[in-house]
Amino acid sequence: MSRPGVHIVPLPTAQRVQPGDDLTALLLTPLAQHGVQPADGDVVCVASKVVSLAEGAIVELPPGDPRAARRELARQHAAEVVAEAPWVLITRTIHGYVAANGGIDASNVGEHAALLLPEDPDASAAALRAGIAAATGRRVGVVITDTFGRPWRRGQTEVALGVAGLPALRDERGGVDLDGRLLEVTEVALADEVAAAADLVRRKDTGTPFVLLRGLDTAGLPDGTGADLLRPLAEDLFAAGGPTAAERAIARRRTVRRFAPEVAVPEHVLEAAVAAAGTAPAPHGTRPWRFLRLTASTRQRLLDAMAAQWRTDLLSDGVEEEVIARRLERSDAVLRTAPELLLPGVRLDEAHHYPDDRRQRAERDLFVLSGGAALQNLQVVLAAHGFGTAWISSTAFCPGTVREVLDLPEHFDPIGMVAVGAPAVPPAPRGPRGPEGLLEEI
Ligand SMILES: Cc1cc2nc3c(=O)[nH]c(=O)nc-3n(C[C@H](O)[C@H](O)[C@H](O)COP(=O)(O)O)c2cc1C
Repeated sequence: MSRPGVHIVPLPTAQRVQPGDDLTALLLTPLAQHGVQPADGDVVCVASKVVSLAEGAIVELPPGDPRAARRELARQHAAEVVAEAPWVLITRTIHGYVAANGGIDASNVGEHAALLLPEDPDASAAALRAGIAAATGRRVGVVITDTFGRPWRRGQTEVALGVAGLPALRDERGGVDLDGRLLEVTEVALADEVAAAADLVRRKDTGTPFVLLRGLDTAGLPDGTGADLLRPLAEDLFAAGGPTAAERAIARRRTVRRFAPEVAVPEHVLEAAVAAAGTAPAPHGTRPWRFLRLTASTRQRLLDAMAAQWRTDLLSDGVEEEVIARRLERSDAVLRTAPELLLPGVRLDEAHHYPDDRRQRAERDLFVLSGGAALQNLQVVLAAHGFGTAWISSTAFCPGTVREVLDLPEHFDPIGMVAVGAPAVPPAPRGPRGPEGLLEEI
């Protein structure tokens, strides 16, 4: 190892790692076996799987399909679902990593268990670095690595999760290139490059959890952590998609009046939609929106009472019994069969009070408008998840009946009903709609 350059030394080992094992001891065995003496400035890469096993980050899976259970586990450990398709779930973990199935590992832990990522990879890296220093007197860097895919590129590479004793990033901003041009954005993801380099000498079918790198020149650079490599959410330009992504998502919402009865609306989808509704603009910084999720018995009670009221209204309009029956039937076909029925409304208890009708009515309108904005958000997010909605006027015409049957306060104003479910047939794509006739200059 006397020639200049970086030397990458695999440290294969036959040891099987058990929960509670000491990582430093696990490393010292292959170092001794292969006659490698660590030196100051060396970097030890360790596969996160070994760290997780030693730390006992193993979860028993419930009976049933283990793939589905692992996916559910990834969802539970996610800060956010970034993308979802039948074959993959990509999440941002609570640590901040974006990975397929939240980095949850299926291999070598048995069919009905899964291996979570280490709880705090930077702390694990620091502990191993301290352990090596105590055992050998050497100050080495440590990188805990894992295998991640990348958007836009096929294949996986090894990346750094935890880092101790070396820089995670080499910031070259402010320097110049060969032509003297100022470098404005260059930050080298050094720890990721180290992780990938270590993987060059690893094979997945052989036990090589540890790899030692020698000759890396990091003189004068401050030590970093794996967390340095996580792009702050505020800088994530891709999270919202391109500018057309919002337009596409909005266009995808269609009124759906027939639902597949056997498909339930998953809790997380409903919660995501309500969370999006809760970002709508509202007067005076209030959060006046409520979505009442009707149980089967409440739904029946409310729809029965509303039908009676509607019948009374139509009879007094002089509408014939036969026509009334047909209209009720059409409405029931949506409202009584939808897998979920929400009663959206706005609370007016935080509305301002005015002595005159003109301003009082305007104030109420503003709250109701905000309810519409929230409801639209809800529908768009449900559509993005593949669920259909129908916003039905119904309750807006009989607020008194609704409040009475559901024992709601006087300040709750219902703004219709929202039937939610998987569409029985895919909704027709929306034809091209331009702004013609909607935008006027005056
Ligand atoms: C405030 C409001 C009330 C609505 N009420 C009903 C209703 O009572 N029955 C119904 O079938 N659709 C109702 N709709 C849905 C509209 O008919 C639907 O939005 C329109 O046909 C356009 O179709 P799209 O939603 O697929 O773009 C309502 C929509 C809104 C915004």
